[in-house]
Amino acid sequence: MDPVIVVHGGAWAIPDQISEASVKGVKTAASEGFAVLKKRGSALNAVELAVRAMEDNPVFDAGHGAVLDADGEVELDAIIMDGKTLAAGAVSSIRNISNPVTFARSVMEKTDHVMLTDRGANLFADGLGIPKLATETLVTENERKEWEHYQKYAQGVKELFNAQWDHDTVGAVAVDCDGNVACATSTGGIRNKMVGRVGDSPIIGSGGYADNHSGAVSCTGHGESIMKVTLARLILFHMEQGKAAGQAAEVSLQYMGERVHGGGGAIVVSNKGDWAAKFTTERMAWASVKEDIMSYGLNPKEIFSEHIQD
Ligand code: GLY
Repeated sequence: MDPVIVVHGGAWAIPDQISEASVKGVKTAASEGFAVLKKRGSALNAVELAVRAMEDNPVFDAGHGAVLDADGEVELDAIIMDGKTLAAGAVSSIRNISNPVTFARSVMEKTDHVMLTDRGANLFADGLGIPKLATETLVTENERKEWEHYQKYAQGVKELFNAQWDHDTVGAVAVDCDGNVACATSTGGIRNKMVGRVGDSPIIGSGGYADNHSGAVSCTGHGESIMKVTLARLILFHMEQGKAAGQAAEVSLQYMGERVHGGGGAIVVSNKGDWAAKFTTERMAWASVKEDIMSYGLNPKEIFSEHIQD
């Protein structure tokens, strides 16, 4: 079958100053992931590579570019999931590494567990020889400056998604030539979050889910709201009931808005290659590639398309 990749760079009120860089970043990530699929590579490898590209890009809140917690430190969360076997690996509150998505894959492939957190996760990373980077290597000068304005979590994390200069999460979903689906999601979380706060991103069924029986989803937005409605599984549930990817994402995001007043976004691919990128925040940078056509957008209902070069 024709492979498909969809990526997002986070649903929030992306300011004009970084809108172009955000779109460029998701297009690059989608191209790199699609190159894997085109060579008959696995959906799992494609989503890992696409997310790594965004973790290495400081315009996004994941890996390099992560936001700071209340202690002025970086705590990262990520998940990766293989829809063929339902194998999953996740990490939360991991400190100061470049690529949490690859580390999550190590949890999936090298342990008997699905998630490692905090001290244990950090010890496992040390055991694997993953380099620890200084906080100032991961965070941008702008983040340090913004953090100083957001010292009180009590200001309301929901509001931050529609405030200037907050960030949120990267993710990728793919279906490969063999019809296998996968998802990956990675984040620095929410600026000035309580130390130890874990959002939706590494939580299976909330920040992501992949099942060859239906499809794959990666979510972004207000983590506490996403967890309450298990957004990724909710979208796949609607697809299992017969809804197309776009409609399933729309009704689920609408439900989250009505039920818990949370905003966010999701990218979706079905096991047949039907795909969607939907959000209820002001903006979300996203890109997809199918049959050598790249589609991308930033604002609601916006879709640009272009042929990709080999
Ligand atoms: N959606 C990312 C977070 O809430 O941590």
